[in-house]
Amino acid sequence: MLVVTAIADLQSVIKNARLTHQKIGFVPTMGALHQGHLSLIKQAKAQTSFVVASIFVNPTQFNEAEDFKLYPRTLDVDLKMLDESGCDLVFTPTVEDIYPSKDLRKFDFGLLEQVMEGLHRPGHFNGVAQVVSKLFDAVQADVAFFGQKDFQQFAIIKAMVKQLNIPIHLVACPIVREPSGLAMSSRNQRLSKLQKEQASAIYKHLTWAKTNFKQYSLSELKNEVEKCFFSSEGLELEYFEIVDENTLIELNSWPVDVKIVACVAVFCGKVRLIDNIVFNL
Ligand code: PAF
Repeated sequence: MLVVTAIADLQSVIKNARLTHQKIGFVPTMGALHQGHLSLIKQAKAQTSFVVASIFVNPTQFNEAEDFKLYPRTLDVDLKMLDESGCDLVFTPTVEDIYPSKDLRKFDFGLLEQVMEGLHRPGHFNGVAQVVSKLFDAVQADVAFFGQKDFQQFAIIKAMVKQLNIPIHLVACPIVREPSGLAMSSRNQRLSKLQKEQASAIYKHLTWAKTNFKQYSLSELKNEVEKCFFSSEGLELEYFEIVDENTLIELNSWPVDVKIVACVAVFCGKVRLIDNIVFNL
């Protein structure tokens, strides 16, 4: 497995790979890797012939300096995990490589960025769009793989790719969970053992909602789920929203023909966790 930091080095390896490989797959990450990331590498290996991962903790997508500072950084372990998973090339740029000057671009994603994460983390998706567009430009992959845990992020990246006419195919991969049901996240590394147990209630509440939603009106179900969160020790609910999968518009009643996704953001101590579940109609 090759590891490169400079964009010029990345591009010369990719140029060579293009001579012998038909399809370049790309898995962008911020490091602190877990099984969720490795499942993306696995998918990339199944669907493409040369797999590139990037590790870059992007400062522009953190709306709180403290969150950026505390984001786990585990480069040596990450590289070992990527090597063992069969990744071909890892791109580990510095902030100066990605942002040689301040990125002044302001994206407009309309309603997609005015709800949930967009509402609660101002500027977050603009930072995601800035870095992902730069990474796509540097790597020039055919297919990029993202986790469905960041469901709204995937919708934003799809919109960005369309706005900028980037010739790349996007694949969303299923959420990988701990045996307790807790969605895998780099932020889980900041949870204590007790907090991990407490945080496993998130998926329990989501699966309860998915199993029982037909017995309630939408507002009743929301109330019930919110009550479950309020009575869950150690958890502080930020939002629980039930939205249309494509538009992310909040639903007021059960639709007949659109996919429903229930999305949640919760604080467990100081750690902010997100999760979601798709309801089958
Ligand atoms: O999902 C993530 O890890 C990040 O938001 C991404 C897509 C790597 C951009 O920094």
